[in-house]
Amino acid sequence: MINEITYLGKIIRVDSETVEVEVSNDIPSAAPIINGRLYKIGQIGTFIKIPIGNITIYGIVSSVSNTPSQTEEIQDKFNYGSLFLTVQLVGEKIGDDDFEKGIGTYPTMNDEVHLVIEMDLFDIYGKKGNGFIEIGKHSSSENLAVYADLHKLILRHCAILGSTGSGKSNTTVSILKAILSDYQGSRIVLVDPHGEYASAFPDATVFKIGDTVGPLFVPFWLMNFDELAFFLVGAKPTDDQRTEYRLFRELITTLKKRNCHLASGEVNENFITADSPIPFSARELWGEMNWWLNASFPLQRKTNKQLILLHS
Ligand SMILES: Nc1ncnc2c1ncn2[C@@H]1O[C@H](COP(=O)(O)OP(=O)(O)OP(=O)(O)O)[C@@H](O)[C@H]1O
Ligand SMILES: [Mg+2]
Repeated sequence: MINEITYLGKIIRVDSETVEVEVSNDIPSAAPIINGRLYKIGQIGTFIKIPIGNITIYGIVSSVSNTPSQTEEIQDKFNYGSLFLTVQLVGEKIGDDDFEKGIGTYPTMNDEVHLVIEMDLFDIYGKKGNGFIEIGKHSSSENLAVYADLHKLILRHCAILGSTGSGKSNTTVSILKAILSDYQGSRIVLVDPHGEYASAFPDATVFKIGDTVGPLFVPFWLMNFDELAFFLVGAKPTDDQRTEYRLFRELITTLKKRNCHLASGEVNENFITADSPIPFSARELWGEMNWWLNASFPLQRKTNKQLILLHS
């Protein structure tokens, strides 16, 4: 194994999450070419593998140094100038089974560490399962497609995170294009407040607020309660301690609950709040508000009686 072209070095420290690797001084090049591809040793983010019998453990290089991380006495044993990698263990593959995240067997001191070549990356990333979409190529290999499980992607909440300019919008476009190409006829609603995606989807129908060609109308009932209260009566969220504000919230909730039998299906009214996007009649709301404003009450009327829609 030591003579293999992928041989990188040996393990000199193991803890529960990371291992430290001393890169062998006998490696002829810091950038070996294997099967026509150039690999860079000690690049952060690259994979390494640790074969132990029929188990192969995979890790990702998280830091690189020319001195080992341990105490001075230990450091004295090493020749300075060697390369030391801290590696985060990510998963393992047993025999011909699929790659799995998580570590069942830990490596130990002096275990051999090897470079991960393109073929190994196919084991980790390469299989396109049922319902998977291709979202791009792996940064370390142009031939290696990276897939995402569409089912998990759209049935749960999902976020694409990164610093400014890191490629979030570009990733969003790639994912949507992959869905559109694999699932022809699928419908996607893209809410695009900054108007940056229209050029990426020339076939899309674009609706814009205030546009003469494709004007976008946002129904009033789609607003959450604070927005609606501000829009209708100029209330601010800081007003929420006021009785009128509380009554107004109850009124909106009652009107939404009344309309829980939607054409698209039943909505459990116990889950409806003043913020739920349930259509209701603005005319009815106006009628209720007007009634409360102009109604006369007998003096002995109990004030704690439920105030909502008493007259309906
Ligand atoms: N996979 C990629 N390969 C090469 N260049 C890319 C890739 N993804 C994005 N870029 C380039 O990086 C720049 C920033 O991309 P993008 O606008 O997607 O980033 P962003 O994270 O959405 O930025 P912002 O935070 O400003 O919205 C663009 O010039 C884009 O062309
Ligand atoms: Mg962006």
